[in-house]
Amino acid sequence: MADTDALDSLWRRSEALTALYATLELTAPLPPLGDWAIDPLFAVCLVNVVLDCRPGPRVVVECGSGASTVVTAAALRRYGIDGHVTSLEQDPDFADVTRAYLRRHELDAFATVHTAPLVDGDHGFGVWYDTSALETLAGDVDLLVVDGPPTAGTSPLARGPALDVMAGRLAPGARVLVDDAMRPGEQQVLQRWSHDHPEVDFSLLLTGNGAALGLKR
Ligand SMILES: C[S@@+](CC[C@H](N)C(=O)[O-])C[C@H]1O[C@@H](n2cnc3c(N)ncnc32)[C@H](O)[C@@H]1O
Repeated sequence: MADTDALDSLWRRSEALTALYATLELTAPLPPLGDWAIDPLFAVCLVNVVLDCRPGPRVVVECGSGASTVVTAAALRRYGIDGHVTSLEQDPDFADVTRAYLRRHELDAFATVHTAPLVDGDHGFGVWYDTSALETLAGDVDLLVVDGPPTAGTSPLARGPALDVMAGRLAPGARVLVDDAMRPGEQQVLQRWSHDHPEVDFSLLLTGNGAALGLKR
């Protein structure tokens, strides 16, 4: 039975990878998917959410840069969406790596990675990214992607402030896509968000590590 599950999981990821390369019209390989980066199933989810937001999303904010930044920017380009990803990344080295991938894919016009250290900000919600980069957003946020800060070396609840800080900046109909939604820390965060931010309806999506999709009424 375990072998069948492993084969099924491998098959679903292969299918997702094929779908990604077939639909995004990439001219270079994606960053390695899985492990710290989003897995192919989450990447497909991300593309589908971008499509569901049509004609947007114009304003995308991402917590935690990497493969997800490239996939989102590529989806904006592929579908002719006049949107931009503002990615918050606390680690200057990872920020540089993601910027290099964006350049290689000629996606600089669709995404900007900001080095945003984790600080005890004046938003009053505890340690989270420095929010200076959010001052220049082109409008309310249509899509918020939550895949950082890293929980390793911080806290299993490190992603908790994301919605507290961003709730007031979400456009009506905005989507909030959360990776690793099946982990105990994220489950706790999602439960609290459902209580504190009832205007955003969350449901679980079936991807490898679990994804939660919130829709702001
Ligand atoms: C879950 S990762 C974000 C991944 C990103 N969304 C992607 O798809 O690649 C969260 C954070 O972990 C850090 N990180 C990424 N890869 C790492 C690695 N191999 N080792 C340690 N930290 C890493 C980066 O600071 C990143 O923002």
